[in-house]
Amino acid sequence: MNFRARILGAAAGGGLPQWNCGCNNCNLARLGKIPPQTQSSVAFTANGLDWAVLNASPDIRQQFVDCSDLHPTGLRELPLRSVLLTNGDIDHVAGLLTLREMQPFTIYATAGIHEVLDQNPIFAALNTSVVTRRTISLDQTVEIAPDLMAELFPVPGKVPLYLEGENVDTEMMGEQTVGVHLSTKGKDAFYIPGCATLNDDLRERLKGAGLVFFDGTLWQDEEMIQAGLGKKTGKRMGHMSMFGNDGSISAFTDLDVAKKVFVHMNNTNPVLRPDSQERRTAEAAGWIIGQDGMEIVP
Ligand code: MLT
Ligand code: MN
Ligand code: ZN
Repeated sequence: MNFRARILGAAAGGGLPQWNCGCNNCNLARLGKIPPQTQSSVAFTANGLDWAVLNASPDIRQQFVDCSDLHPTGLRELPLRSVLLTNGDIDHVAGLLTLREMQPFTIYATAGIHEVLDQNPIFAALNTSVVTRRTISLDQTVEIAPDLMAELFPVPGKVPLYLEGENVDTEMMGEQTVGVHLSTKGKDAFYIPGCATLNDDLRERLKGAGLVFFDGTLWQDEEMIQAGLGKKTGKRMGHMSMFGNDGSISAFTDLDVAKKVFVHMNNTNPVLRPDSQERRTAEAAGWIIGQDGMEIVP
């Protein structure tokens, strides 16, 4: 079976350590006492040869260096077939600018996310005669690499931070924030790196799934405020937290998902410390804490 995923970056925007952050976790990562993590991205293959990268993080250059599956196979030949975007956030699109060296691949996204790219002329650096842009409608299935099918579905979320107006709907359902259902010959997996709440629609979709990568931004909603790092709750940022009555650990308990993997973890999240009580709690509930380089077979 060749269907597998590789976590290119397990951290949320900023990474671990974040360049300007002196929090406990970031300091420990700088000292080499906990593993550093790059920003949010996962690669999938269905045949073991051709890969799709889900989200293009600002760390994509290093991620390609570190992942032998994605190394060139010829002078200018790469196993990369496509990049699929789940929202227009900087940590998910900025890496596209690194991929501007006349390398053919396809960018898949909803019309709403393509529109965000189109509004920013800098993305024209990806010459459209070389890098194809394809729009996927919600609930339409497309082949994003040989034998690798992907279907996008709406997930509660908000517009990117840099497009926020005065009033922000943090649980908007539409084309701005999507999840991905990947499948090949009877096997499947879900990738949902940003999610404000697990509504009935999502619960129904994920019930009994073999593998789910899920938004692990914060351990608890007020984490950034308590750490003295900001004024926003996780909910305001469009992310549900792991812990608590309305957290993801509790929400997944009756969903019967075989493999659950947290990704997109903010550098304040205590689960990033291998010896933390929070890490033990999450693992005891059946969660895998995603790490850079980790290979996950559905
Ligand atoms: C998020 O996941 O909330 C965003 O990536 C935040 C950001 O754009 O800095
Ligand atoms: Mn993010
Ligand atoms: Zn930090």
